[in-house]
Amino acid sequence: GSMHHGGSKADGPAGYVDPAGPEVRAAEAARKATGPVTEVKVTATATTLDLGGGRTVRSWAYGDRLPGQEVRATAGGSLSLTLANNLPEATSMHWHGLALRNDMDGVPGLTQRDIAPGGSFAYRFAVAHPGTYWFHPHTGVQQDRGLYAPLIVEDPKEPLSYDKEWVVVLDDWIDGVDGATPDAVLAELRKGMSTPGAGGSHRHKYVHMGGESDVLGKDAGDVVYPHYLVNGRVPEDPSVFTARPGDRIRLRIINAGGDTAFRIALGGHELTVTHTDGFPVEHATTGSLLLGMGERYDVLVTAQDGVFPLTALAEGKDGSALAVLRTGSGTAPTAATRPAELQVRPLTADTLRAAGEAVLAAREPDRTVQIRLTGSMTRYNWAFDGIPYTPDQRHPVKAGERVRLEFRNATPMWHPVHLHGHTFAVGTAPGGARKDTAVILPGGRLTADFDADNPGLWMAHCHNVYHSESGMMTVIGYQ
Ligand code: C2O
Ligand code: CU
Repeated sequence: GSMHHGGSKADGPAGYVDPAGPEVRAAEAARKATGPVTEVKVTATATTLDLGGGRTVRSWAYGDRLPGQEVRATAGGSLSLTLANNLPEATSMHWHGLALRNDMDGVPGLTQRDIAPGGSFAYRFAVAHPGTYWFHPHTGVQQDRGLYAPLIVEDPKEPLSYDKEWVVVLDDWIDGVDGATPDAVLAELRKGMSTPGAGGSHRHKYVHMGGESDVLGKDAGDVVYPHYLVNGRVPEDPSVFTARPGDRIRLRIINAGGDTAFRIALGGHELTVTHTDGFPVEHATTGSLLLGMGERYDVLVTAQDGVFPLTALAEGKDGSALAVLRTGSGTAPTAATRPAELQVRPLTADTLRAAGEAVLAAREPDRTVQIRLTGSMTRYNWAFDGIPYTPDQRHPVKAGERVRLEFRNATPMWHPVHLHGHTFAVGTAPGGARKDTAVILPGGRLTADFDADNPGLWMAHCHNVYHSESGMMTVIGYQ
């Protein structure tokens, strides 16, 4: 196969920064990555995955495991990861949440060429900020197969003290369930309910947060119920995390689902939220948390004595994911266990305050970009401002500006909106939590302020993979 080094710009409108150009290289040099280099090789491959409980599925994964092997890098160092593509299709790799050099962002047709079957790509970049991140392809709906893994960036001056760390990756698995594949689901969705004959009898019922919707499949009357997974395992045969009573445990929770928000709680424990999307917040305690697709939360818990369910309810759907914390003896929780902590209103990011260096200094925006979320379930025409994504779209910004993104959700569905290469402050009040992904409720708004300090061409999109692939994406481009 062929090995590409570095990105390659797709043809786009003139007057914008080249993803591999001098501005991008200068921003990379300013990161002064003098710390350790983490070297990793990852192979994207077709494989058989064991989801536990006797369920095996043919799917695609990084290596032979789900999630893929977690990658640990060090803030102030760099990551050097070679992705070999053993899939029958072109692929790519995106580093969700990282403010990295643009030509390593992994968006084919925008920041690099496709990685062809049999080919490979050497990703190498400075890692500036500590935190909880993850990676996945930015090609079609490949992420909704098994192609995802955690990326933990350690802080050489870690201010938190804890005894153990537990990385928790949530997923709504449909690949191979009742013959469904993410591509087939997307194809059915895109036929839409506006296509005569495609309505009613041919649709699977699939339930979304914010109301029941129909999404589709192969046979009349069938219902595709995803398997809800924690760390790649079904709730009937959950993964078990062991600790001692009194241990302080840092949980790094990642929602890698394609179409599901999760409400998560650890039975018998209070969660102390310390970070969201990698960045510190003023500590806040809660019984439960809500995570849209792509969002991350770090929490601290002090382990009680016994056996406890970590339950993630599929919001607005019928089912839950489960893992178990075991510090002593007790009865094992089941898929049906519902910790009382789930009953209280879950904490959401708009109530959090940024802490320390994560506080974005108050400043009037130099530029406001208004983006309306549009589309409907019946037409499945999800888009920004009614215009489906093409790689030549640009919302212009200039380096040095304070930019305000004003998203307005004109649809009856919620959408987790994600910005590449930057971390924005949530809301107009100073000190909002810093995030790269935030849920916008039906009819709701999101004000996302950021400093344009990372030149390049950056995606902004809904992190429902079916919505983004239907067109709910655009590009913020540095001029
Ligand atoms: Cu996690 Cu553009 O993606
Ligand atoms: Cu969406």
